[in-house]
Amino acid sequence: MEKFIIQGGNKLNGTVHISGAKNAAVAILPAVILSDGVCRIENVPDISDVAITLKILYELGAQVRMINSSTFEIDPTHVNSFVLSKDMSRKMRASSYFIGAMLGRFGKARVAPPGGCDFGVRPIDQHIKGFQSLGARVVIDNGMVDAKAQQLVGAPIYLDMASVGATINIMLAAVKAQGLTVIENAAREPHVVDLANFLNSMGADIMGAGTNVIKIRGVSRLNGTTYSIIPDQIEAGTYMAAVAAAGGDVIVENVIPKHLESISLKLTEMGAQIEEYDESLRIVMNVRPKACNVKTMVHPGFPTDMQPQITAVLSLAQGTSIVTESVWDNRFRYTDQLNFMGSKISIEGRAAIVTGVEKLVGAPVMANDLRAGAALIIAGLAAEGQTEIESIQFIDRGYENVVEKITKLGGDIKRVIFPDVNEIKEAL
Ligand code: EPU
Repeated sequence: MEKFIIQGGNKLNGTVHISGAKNAAVAILPAVILSDGVCRIENVPDISDVAITLKILYELGAQVRMINSSTFEIDPTHVNSFVLSKDMSRKMRASSYFIGAMLGRFGKARVAPPGGCDFGVRPIDQHIKGFQSLGARVVIDNGMVDAKAQQLVGAPIYLDMASVGATINIMLAAVKAQGLTVIENAAREPHVVDLANFLNSMGADIMGAGTNVIKIRGVSRLNGTTYSIIPDQIEAGTYMAAVAAAGGDVIVENVIPKHLESISLKLTEMGAQIEEYDESLRIVMNVRPKACNVKTMVHPGFPTDMQPQITAVLSLAQGTSIVTESVWDNRFRYTDQLNFMGSKISIEGRAAIVTGVEKLVGAPVMANDLRAGAALIIAGLAAEGQTEIESIQFIDRGYENVVEKITKLGGDIKRVIFPDVNEIKEAL
C-alpha cells in the first residue's frame, strides 16, 4: 500500500502544467466505440480512471496503441462484445458510459451498475429514462443493467436534473439513432461540450452543447478522427486552491481561463490575485485567506468537485464561512479528517460551517474519495509539521503525477510504500 507524506509550510512557486480533463477523457474514450475508423486521442491524462477505461476498451476487443504517455490510437473495428464485467464496471462511475456507447453501436449493452466515489446515493434513473425514450428496453437482470433496442429512434427527453452523466450517456446512444433527439435541461459542463465536439469531429450532428438544450440529429456512420481533450478544470482549480492555502506565486499553464471563472472569482474574494492569459493564469497569494460563502451548483456555478478543496482553504481563513453543497447528498465526510488537523468545521444538513483557524497541524488522515484526498493534500501543504495521507489510490484516480507537480512548485510531498496488515500476515 502507498501513502503520501507531506511536510507542510513551504510556499508554492513556479509553473504547473495541467493535464487533460479526467471527466472528458472517461466520456470520450468509450465514445470511440461508435467510430468506424481509428481515433487518435491526444492530451489524455495519465490517471488510473483512464487506465481502467483503456483496459475495458481492450477487453471489449479494441486495439489500443500508446503513441506517448498522453496520446493513444484506438481502433474499435474489432470490438465484438457488448458486455462489461461486473469487476470492471464497479471500478468507476464512468463505466456507465459504455451503456450509451454500446447501445449506439450494437443496439444492446449489458453493464453492471457503476461504482465510483461514495458520496450518497448515485442513481442512474435519468440515464435509463433517456435510453427508454429512444426506444430501448432496459431491465436490471442478475445485477446487470441490460439494455436492448431493435432500432434507436430520436425523441425529446427532459432531464429532471441537469445530470452530467445522463446528458453524456444519452448523447452517446442518440448520435446514431434515427432522427432528432432533443435533451432539455441538459448539463452544460465543459466536458459535456468536449464530448459533443469530439463526436462532431467524427461526423455527428450535435448542436447546442454548452446550453441547456442539446439537439442531436442521428447519422448512419461516424469516422475516425484526431482529437485533443480539454485541460482539466478541476485539476487546475486544485492547484490554485493549494496556492491560496499555502501562499506563493504560480503560473498554471494549459488551462481555459473561462472554465475556471467561478473558481477564480471565489479565490479572488478570498484575497488571491489572479491574472488571466490566453491559455494560462497566474495566481499570487500573500495574505491570510478571507472567509466567504460558497454554494456548489451545476455549471457555470461553483463546481461540486472543488468543494472539498475550497473548504480546506477556508478552514484557514479569517472569519467564518458557509459552504453549501447542492449537488450531492453526502459530500462532507472528509471534514472529520480536516478537523483531525485542527480545522473547525461542523456540518448542518447540506452546509459546512467553517470557522477559520490560524494554523492547521499535520496529522495522519485518510482520503475518503478523490476530491477529499485533494483537500487533504492542500491542508497538508499549508499545515505545520507532517501529514500522512492513506488511501491515496483515490487521488491517483484523477491527478496525474501529483507528487512531481507539487515537488516542482517547492512543496514537500513523498509517496511511500508501507505494508498493510494482510501483507504483514502473509510475510509471517
Ligand atoms: N442524479 C440522479 N439520477 C440520475 C443521475 C444523477 O438523481 O440518473 C443526481 C445525482 O444523485 C446527483 C446529481 O444528480 O445528486 C448530479 O449527478 P450527475 O449525474 O451530474 O453526476 P455524475 O455524472 O455521476 C459527474 C462527475 C462527478 C461530478 C458530477 C457533478 C464524471 C465521471 N463524474 O458525475 O465528478 O461530481 O458530475 O458535476 O463526470 C469527480 O470528478 O470527483 C466527480 C465525482
